[in-house]
This record gives sequence, structure tokens and C-alpha cells, in this order.
Amino acid sequence: MPDSSVFELRKFVAPEIVYGEGARLLAGQYASIFQAETILVVTDPGVIQSGIADDVFQSLDEYGIAYHVFSDIQPNPRAESVMEGTRIYREKHCTGIIAVGGGSPIDCAKGIGIVSSNNKHILEFEGVDKVEIPAPPLICIPTTSGSSADVSQFAIISDTRRQVKIAIISKTLVPDVALIDPVTLLTLTHDLTQHTVLDALTHAIEAFVSNAHSSISDIHALEAIRLICSYLPLVMQEPKNLEYRAYTMLASMHAGLAFSNASLGAVHAMAHSLGGFLDLPHGMCNALLLPSVIKFNYSGASERYDTIGKQFGFDMSASMSEGRMDALLSGLSEFYTKIGFNSSLSDIGVTRDHVDDLTEKAIMDVCMVTNPRGITKKDLISIYESAL
Ligand SMILES: [Fe+2]
Repeated sequence: MPDSSVFELRKFVAPEIVYGEGARLLAGQYASIFQAETILVVTDPGVIQSGIADDVFQSLDEYGIAYHVFSDIQPNPRAESVMEGTRIYREKHCTGIIAVGGGSPIDCAKGIGIVSSNNKHILEFEGVDKVEIPAPPLICIPTTSGSSADVSQFAIISDTRRQVKIAIISKTLVPDVALIDPVTLLTLTHDLTQHTVLDALTHAIEAFVSNAHSSISDIHALEAIRLICSYLPLVMQEPKNLEYRAYTMLASMHAGLAFSNASLGAVHAMAHSLGGFLDLPHGMCNALLLPSVIKFNYSGASERYDTIGKQFGFDMSASMSEGRMDALLSGLSEFYTKIGFNSSLSDIGVTRDHVDDLTEKAIMDVCMVTNPRGITKKDLISIYESAL
């Protein structure tokens, strides 16, 4: 059967990307190109401690660009942090933003940008295309190989009052430039490496089976899967190997380009609910939910899941679809074992008592719209329960 997606009308957006060793050192040059006289550097304490932020400060000094630092940001960035960062942005008369870090500082920086230009509260932008006025220039320097917020049109912000993460999706959130430097990964811890690359893997898989996938996003998704299954096990063994790190960084970038344009699915909707409610690591939540969601979704996109299995190198030759689904799930389970990921939702404190609240929030998440199979609250309850 022909794949109709090859002639379907689809949009693909991406920032200017500079990829490679030393890309982080171009921060000053790009700030100068954007004529940003005073920069707000948005980062977090871990990135400052690693010394990566110093490289960026030095680059800004070389170009004579003034900067102020905002680093009061927690994992799962909060609406309060966005509003506080905006206050500082205005108080210091900044004219551009550089985000250095993982998804939390980058999403927070995106939030500061749109709040400062639109003069609204960050929570008012929830949903798709709710940003009217573009943000000031935004340069992103990712320091994890997972969130890909540096290339995406997504920002995920925690609404601590409602204990939920909101998704903001807008072309105005695509950064002006992503300076993607694999050197920044060399100080990443074991757990952060594992969780963030599994986040990237989930981005690639969900984008590939998404209702909004395209022939362009497919190429990026499949390349991300190929790179992650080849290089994540090697990175876990040799975390200081720059070549292996570079491939995981590249994988994250490809996965980001795929999901930014094809969107995501039930894994992310359910993980956002978990992260907002229990403040758990995002990549870990995704990895724990992924097998149960694949099992539920498989019948809605079986050929696409089979392609994913082949991309991993699993034996997908079974004649019955059930056999191919089992091959994909057992292959994924072996992959988790190979990289030392062995956990369940119960291990991280999720209980049956949480499931109803988690379901209520997940069903409302914008990522659910592009899940390849229709999903009810009852389905969500049984998926959460099977991942416990
Ligand atoms: Fe994610």
C-alpha cells in the first residue's frame, strides 16, 4: 500500500543550527549578530558548577556584551521562575536571551521571551499558537542530549498551583539559533545521561507514529532511533568518549526536529501529568511509560511500529502482528537492560491511589491529540496501572 504521507501538505520549522565541538564558544558572536546589547543568560546551578556557563560568559566578554544571569531554576521549570526571570529581564533592560542548560533553563528562557514581549502571564499561553508577538532574540546552548528544546517549538512549564505541566506550542518558540556542542555532555551524570537520551528516544518514537508525522519528520525520527540504539549503550560505558557523546547529541537534535514538527503522543501526555503531579524526572517517566503505551497503541500504527523495530535491529519477521509487537517490546526491554535502566513507576513512589488524578490531567494534555490510537480515561487508567 502506498504511503500517502509522502504527498501530504506538511510544514517543517527549525532554527539556525551550529553543530560541533566549540559551538558554545560562538555565543558572543551570535549575540553581536542579533545586536543584543544586554543579554539575560538563563541557566541553572548545575550548569554553572560544570564550568560550561563560564565559557559562555567569556565569549560574551570577548564581544563586549553586557549580561545578567538568572539561574534560580529547578528541574520541571515553574511558572513562578518564568515570571521572576521576566522581572529581571525588564529591570536590567535586556534585549536578548541566551539559554544554557537542559530543557528546564531553555523552556524557562522561552517563557521569559514570550512573557516579556506579550506582557501576559506565562500560563495564558497554554495550547497551540497562543503567542501573538514574537519573543526577543533567543540563543540556546543545550547541555543534555534529550529535551531538544533548543530546536523545538515547544515549552513545558509547571503550574505548581494546579500541580500540572502545561504545553505551549508556537512557531515563535523556535529559538533563533541553537549552538549544539557535544563537549557540554562530558560532565553529564550517569542518571541524567540515561534519562535524557531515553527522553530523546521517546521523542523519536512518538513523532514517527504521530498522526501529524511527515516524510521530513520521519527521516529525523528514524535517524535518531538508529543513533540512540547504537551509541547510548557505548556512552553508558564510556561517558568521557567525545565521539559517542557527539552521536547522542546528534540523535537528540534529530529527535527534536522530528517531534517539534510531528508532535508527540500518549507517553508524553502521561509523563507531563506525572512530572507535574509528583515532580519526577521527565525522561525517566517517559521511559517507564513507553512499553505500556506501545502495547496499547500498536494496533493503531502497526506498520510504523514494525519499522521502528527494524531500525533497532530487532527480528520483526513474525507473520502475525502480535508476534511483531512482542518482538518490539522484548527488544526494547533488552535494550533497557543493556543500558542499565531497570525501574518501574512503583519504584519511584507512584501508587494506585495516584492513578485517577494522573489520568484526569493526562487526558487534557495537548500531546494526546496526535496519539495514533484514540484513547479513553479507562484506557489511560489501565496503561498507568500496567506500568506500576
Ligand atoms: Fe520529552
